[in-house]
Amino acid sequence: PIIYFVTPTYARSVQMAELTRLGQTLSSVPALHWILVEDASKCNPMVGQLLRRLGIPFTHLASEMPAAYKKLKTPPRGVSNRRAALKWIRKNVKQGVLYFGDDDNSYDLRLFEEIRDTRNISMFPVGLIGDYAVSAPVVHDGKVVGFYDSWPAGRRFAVDMAGFAVNIQLLHQFPNATFIYQAGFEEDSFLQDIVTNADFIEAKAANCTEILVWHTRTVQVPAVILQPPTQTLTDTSISGLL
Ligand code: UGA
Ligand code: MN
Repeated sequence: PIIYFVTPTYARSVQMAELTRLGQTLSSVPALHWILVEDASKCNPMVGQLLRRLGIPFTHLASEMPAAYKKLKTPPRGVSNRRAALKWIRKNVKQGVLYFGDDDNSYDLRLFEEIRDTRNISMFPVGLIGDYAVSAPVVHDGKVVGFYDSWPAGRRFAVDMAGFAVNIQLLHQFPNATFIYQAGFEEDSFLQDIVTNADFIEAKAANCTEILVWHTRTVQVPAVILQPPTQTLTDTSISGLL
């Protein structure tokens, strides 16, 4: 099966660094289609150039967060983008495996072969989440029976976006399953829409004992305001440097 790897992304100083690193990870994965969705009104041509340079199958979309949500103290990040990806997949893809991979996480290449045979929904631990430094399904006799997560918040599925994969058949079976615009509850709402039977959940990564993806976060650096150099470099000063 082909893995459809959905990444929401937005413009900030570290964006090209994140996308280059992630893109080069993804170019090592066979049978993968990258759906990169910008939180913007249109696609950035520089991002398009990177996608073409990588030489992997991709779809480049743009879907901006509605203005009303941008004003919130905790805006629902990446929701509009992921919704656009769901729409594109439902229209264009019959089968495969769907995974939501944010642009700043770190992925072990073994993750991809773990999720590739997802029959319904698979789940696995995510490193560097919250106060416990890991968010993981609790497995008993090979079955997911609960969640070890420092932010349960009354969620039925206390998992991170990077901690599950879905067989695309389920998107067609549940055509209304979607992400809600509520920070922190996106995963739970989507999973509640598609999990009719908890037995459907497949524990991956050695019964959820291995970490194959980390919720790393990149420190933002201030955007540099380009100033003309105070001293103009001439041909002589350049050759003088060599
Ligand atoms: C955590 C989860 O890991 C996310 O999957 C979830 O969407 C997010 O919380 C949430 O509930 O808001 P976190 O690391 O805190 O993620 O968030 P970011 O990495 O900043 O954003 C998640 C994704 O959305 C990233 O791929 C990012 O590029 C994208 N994003 C972020 C946007 O598209 N627009 C934004 O304004 C901000
Ligand atoms: Mn993140």
